[in-house]
Amino acid sequence: MSDKIKVLFSEETVDEKIRELGEKISKDYEGKELHLICVLRGGSFFMCELSKRITVPVTIDFMSVSSYGQGTTSSGNIKIVKDLDDTITGKHVLVVEDIIDSGRTLSHLLELLESRRPESLALCTLLDKPDRRVVEVDVDYTGFEIPDLFVVGYGLDYAQKYRNLPYIGVVEIDEE
Ligand code: IMP
Ligand code: MG
Repeated sequence: MSDKIKVLFSEETVDEKIRELGEKISKDYEGKELHLICVLRGGSFFMCELSKRITVPVTIDFMSVSSYGQGTTSSGNIKIVKDLDDTITGKHVLVVEDIIDSGRTLSHLLELLESRRPESLALCTLLDKPDRRVVEVDVDYTGFEIPDLFVVGYGLDYAQKYRNLPYIGVVEIDEE
């Protein structure tokens, strides 16, 4: 079985967008320290690149929640697989996500993080599929808005594959 991948955003386009986001975030948090929370596993590639473009002092932590199985549909169930190592109380927290689809994962996660009393809580996503939204989520920083497509690369997977692609592509699933 070999899936065909069509490039949606090239490596250069993604890099340029991350640079823009980094500049904007750096301005917005000027004079402050920023605590980045990466939602594993998909958000890790984006967070690494984004953090390099942020000029205010940054600390990082990781969290893992599961909502999807092996395929492309959501079960609607969210489970914390790995919690944060550090406290977020009193910190300026920015959650870094790969993609927002139904919004279920993020709305649960943001609710949980808010209960731990950060100084501020914001959300940055590389990709957003607004047409797919089931639960409303306030997104502070968005890289690209895309239609209802299943995308891979730059951390995003299809059955755990293709996370390492340096661009964002659409997978044309070959069932043979
Ligand atoms: P939500 O709870 O439906 O918003 O789920 C968001 C999560 O589903 C993301 O963090 C991804 O892990 C996964 N996901 C949603 N859409 C895609 C896609 O197009 N490609 C790969 N993963 C996706
Ligand atoms: Mg994710």
